[in-house]
Amino acid sequence: MSIRGTYAAMTLIVLGTAAHAAGPLQGIQADDVAQADPAIVELGKLLFFDPRLSGDASTACSDCHNPSTGWSDAAELARGYPGTMHWRNSQTIVNMGFMTGGFHWDSGLNSLTDQVHDAMGAGFVANIDTILGEERLRQIPEYEDRFWAIWQEPPTQDRIAESIAAYERSIISADSPFDQYMAGQNWAMTDSAKRGLGLFSGKANCSACHSGSLATDQQFHNTSVPPNAGLAEDPLRQVTFRYLMRVKGLEPAVYEGLDRDPGRYLATQQPEDLGKFRTPPLRYLKYTAPYMHNGTFYTLEEVVDFYNAGGTPDAFGTKSPLIRPLGLTQREKADLVAFLNSMSGSEVLEDVPKLPEYGIRQFPHSAERVTVASLGGRAPQASPATASVAGSDVIAPSENTLTLVPKSNDAKKSVTPATQAQEQSQDGTDRFVLVEAGETLGTIARRIYGDGRQFQKLFQANRDLLRNPNDLTPGMVLRVPQ
Ligand code: HEC
Ligand code: HEC
Repeated sequence: MSIRGTYAAMTLIVLGTAAHAAGPLQGIQADDVAQADPAIVELGKLLFFDPRLSGDASTACSDCHNPSTGWSDAAELARGYPGTMHWRNSQTIVNMGFMTGGFHWDSGLNSLTDQVHDAMGAGFVANIDTILGEERLRQIPEYEDRFWAIWQEPPTQDRIAESIAAYERSIISADSPFDQYMAGQNWAMTDSAKRGLGLFSGKANCSACHSGSLATDQQFHNTSVPPNAGLAEDPLRQVTFRYLMRVKGLEPAVYEGLDRDPGRYLATQQPEDLGKFRTPPLRYLKYTAPYMHNGTFYTLEEVVDFYNAGGTPDAFGTKSPLIRPLGLTQREKADLVAFLNSMSGSEVLEDVPKLPEYGIRQFPHSAERVTVASLGGRAPQASPATASVAGSDVIAPSENTLTLVPKSNDAKKSVTPATQAQEQSQDGTDRFVLVEAGETLGTIARRIYGDGRQFQKLFQANRDLLRNPNDLTPGMVLRVPQ
């Protein structure tokens, strides 16, 4: 324990509080993450699980950050967009809202929103073109309505990233035995874990790098983690690895000679950054094996053995002097593992939400219908009363306008007899509507008025029931103003 930590501990004892001090490690407070509007978080959740935000509609964020495998995946090295393989271990997204430094194993990205743009655009992750993604969402009425309801604008890539990042910030694990212990609940940690905490901040000196409330200094170190043969020997992973090195501008003389992940060097190209990785948080380890940037260790026992041995011979000449043989006994190693486990709380689970379906988009949502006149053109002068354009009837042009009316009336068929029946008048004046599963005020407004933006009117008329526009629950009966 550092001198400062000891001093803090003494002060606390003097003040008579029950809180503990753990050297540079701290407990975590869920409230420390500012939470966005629940409507944005809810939208972000749908998008996080929606594979249509990948080029071939196959790969959602949740495929590599799966709640049931620690919001990561269970592989040493991640899968990739179909036809590719990723070259690094997928990281958990739990507690991302607490991270103030960069993201990824090498912190190559500065913000959570940048990270979303990067993941969506990367050819080996989600591989989707920005405009294609926006237009996909525009053909899914519920998404269109949600974006209008929140921002009064159609889906845009920036709002997509903002929503997904807001959802990620809502995934928090702050209830670990260690946090309870730090809050003064002495019983929360076993004696073995308490001894492990002493070693973590003392003899084993893990807290030299694993400090703060997430157990990371968010700095870069070479701990000499051995390479994963799966990278060198898998042609598909080599494709991704070499592609990235070239995209980042590494010279052939450098990338031809790299048989392993150069870590932070990829982001900075500073020789002293070779082999360094961002110290990862240690708050959810129970659920996120295998460990390290390349998934090389499957158990925490293996990790502790690795550190106890002082790491491995260094490939780059940048190994941290803090990584040296620790001389831990069997019991000390077991205590350290017990402490690492005590930093994980209960499993944060989430059911895959029911995703909204493609539907025929009501036209127009925002703009005026295009006519010859609206575009500044001129209608034909002496033309026949009606002409035929493939798939449409052309209504007789009047003055400068020409209106195309779709021949198919399918758009109107989305109101089923069942939904109409629910809108029966109850006393002759007021109308009511029954909220169905998955509906938003926007979709209801569209159903009733043919215009999703009228959701405000519905919201105002039902303020006695709704605190905010997204407070809907299936089975609720809403008043429908004329
Ligand atoms: C094909 C698998 C895959 C998909 C799909 C994927 N990721 Fe990742 N994710 C990874 C891998 C691998 C890393 C580590 C990347 C690195 O270090 O270069 C990562 C890293 C991250 C991180 C950084 C965590 C940290 O501790 O810094 C966040 C946040 C994240 N992903 C969110 C997302 C979001 C949001 C999406 C969807 C838009 C997404 N990912 C899609 C595999 C994937
Ligand atoms: C010199 C700084 C430093 C010290 C000291 C250090 N670590 Fe680490 N730790 C790191 C870095 C950097 C990584 C990521 C390395 C990589 O992926 O190649 C890491 C990774 C880990 C991981 C894997 C986490 C994951 O999500 O994959 C665990 C567990 C861990 N360290 C525990 C410990 C323990 C226990 C100690 C003390 C015995 C310790 N560390 C000492 C910097 C350090």
